[in-house]
Amino acid sequence: MRFDIPILAPSILAADYTRLGEEITTCLNSGIEWIHCDIMDGHFVPNISYGPTIVKAASRSGDAFLDVHLMIENPGHYIQPFVDAGANLITVHQETCPHLHRTIQQIKQHDIGAGVAINPATPVQQIIPILEYVDLVLIMSVNPGFGGQSFIESTYQKLEEVVAERSRKQLNFLIEVDGGVGPDNIQKVARAGADVFVAGSAVFKADDISKRINKLIDSAKKGKGMMA
Ligand code: DX5
Ligand code: ZN
Repeated sequence: MRFDIPILAPSILAADYTRLGEEITTCLNSGIEWIHCDIMDGHFVPNISYGPTIVKAASRSGDAFLDVHLMIENPGHYIQPFVDAGANLITVHQETCPHLHRTIQQIKQHDIGAGVAINPATPVQQIIPILEYVDLVLIMSVNPGFGGQSFIESTYQKLEEVVAERSRKQLNFLIEVDGGVGPDNIQKVARAGADVFVAGSAVFKADDISKRINKLIDSAKKGKGMMA
């Protein structure tokens, strides 16, 4: 998977579902390539969001790269439906996978990207053995289940640990930060080493979505030292 870093991945959890197609088109017309799809089952997280039907609708709204985040128990039972719905990358939580290596292999056999996510209280140590098999590591910067929460500051330390592990092992997976990312902190998150930035409310609750997207991308580039 080759993409220009930084990647801003709007989470459609925060979108206006009466105009989902239009909202996705606005993002794509503003230079967005990734759309983040938050799947919640009401068991692993205290909220229920949506399933493959909405992911399928998102796939029909343009040529977005669909970054599907499974916050569900038994994610291995649902890989096929999300592949059929058009997922380009599926991320599972380490906390829901007793056989994590097998689940990652199960995703990869569909020729799509495979990611592993860890919650705020889960140490990076838990995913060291799987790093060489994944295309993406998702570091939760809020407790999963809802958009619009505040960024958990201890994320920076975990982010730096994952960056260090990636270079120590000479791997090239992407590092994604998910939750509470917005104009006030995206530059610092980028400087700490993130490649992919999930933003739900910071994008879809903005007065001008397109303007906000450009501001977020510019700040992320600044954090990466890519802009004056
Ligand atoms: C939370 C989800 C996040 C969330 C991001 O469980 O994984 O992707 O939707 O929303 P904001 O950017 O509003 O925190
Ligand atoms: Zn997410």
